[in-house]
Amino acid sequence: MAWRIPLADIDFNEEELHAVEEVIKSKWLTMGAITQQFEKNFSEFTGIKHAVAVTNCTAGLHLALAALGVGPGDEVIVPSLTFVATSNAVRYTGAEPVFADINSENDLTISPEAIQSQITPRTKAIIVMHYGGYACNLERVLEIARDYHLYVVEDAAHALGSSLNGVHLGGWGDVGCFSFFSNKNMTTAEGGMVVTNNDHLAEKVRLLRSHGMTSLTWDRHQGHAWSYDVVELGYNYRIDEIRSALGAVQLKKLPSNNRKRHSFTEHYRQLMGQKVPEVIVPFLDHRGESAHHIFPIILPENSDRVRVMEKLKQSGIQTSIHYPPIHLFRYYQQSDLNYHLPLTENVARRELTLPLFPGMQVQDVTLVVDALREALV
Ligand SMILES: Cc1ncc(COP(=O)(O)O)c(C=O)c1O
Repeated sequence: MAWRIPLADIDFNEEELHAVEEVIKSKWLTMGAITQQFEKNFSEFTGIKHAVAVTNCTAGLHLALAALGVGPGDEVIVPSLTFVATSNAVRYTGAEPVFADINSENDLTISPEAIQSQITPRTKAIIVMHYGGYACNLERVLEIARDYHLYVVEDAAHALGSSLNGVHLGGWGDVGCFSFFSNKNMTTAEGGMVVTNNDHLAEKVRLLRSHGMTSLTWDRHQGHAWSYDVVELGYNYRIDEIRSALGAVQLKKLPSNNRKRHSFTEHYRQLMGQKVPEVIVPFLDHRGESAHHIFPIILPENSDRVRVMEKLKQSGIQTSIHYPPIHLFRYYQQSDLNYHLPLTENVARRELTLPLFPGMQVQDVTLVVDALREALV
């Protein structure tokens, strides 16, 4: 469908084309010097010591948990109001995801009190997700983690360019994971990055990313190694040079694109307050810098979301829902645990995500808010 205003759009031009062309001409396509440079740039940009590029964020979350030694018999506390990859990654390790509720309809991130109430002797780690690029209450989560000797993994898929107290998100916990899927603030088509300030963990993630092998094909091509040993049961979660080349270009564009997202978000907030004051705009009092990945709103209790989405669609405006809660998916309902997460369930019924991307125009924001006002009548 050709949308008048799509939900998201990528910012690609000649630079990305040129970068990809150069890789193809070089004839070295799998992980090598360009990936190393991309990782270095990413580490400098975020200020986090190690950056390990991977095939996608889901693989990154799996690697993070595997490197932390999470496995069968362990529990990992996760939000339910997130993309299903957050909890699937826990299941890949044989551990059990345990869902915790969010803070409120104004702060859609995981609640520290809810985390604390779910801790058992089997709890090994907490995964937080910085919804929309807005930091969760990291100070409190880290305090709980310290008190109960738990690891913290940050699902920072929404948070590239987000920081709190000057520290980039993803760099607060033990490990952070970013996504470069095509609707994210920067894209490599599929792709992701695992970050950590811990040397040992970084080494382990690198090893597990490539079959647990002690050398890469690239090292052997460079003449730095001629054979290898396999010291862990690893995976093939490698990125490639084409995607890393795209990533390097996209990372350069990210600060200016995030500024545009910020300015459209401000415009939305102003207009929503004037034209549809009955709608809740979450994160108005958020702390730190947000990457403004998406623009979520919470519709009034009595509104019919499907009808609103349909009306917006008739005006050519694409919307989405972030997220259908994970604990209500059929697959996750097969678990013995019976969850009732009232805030998550309430917000998930009422949440609507409006278009937000760097290439939109100020008048698009006005058009969306006007169409929303009509749709709510
Ligand atoms: C919060 C969250 N976590 C994880 C992922 C998984 O990312 P990827 O598609 O790169 O595996 C996504 C992607 O949409 C996401 O939004």
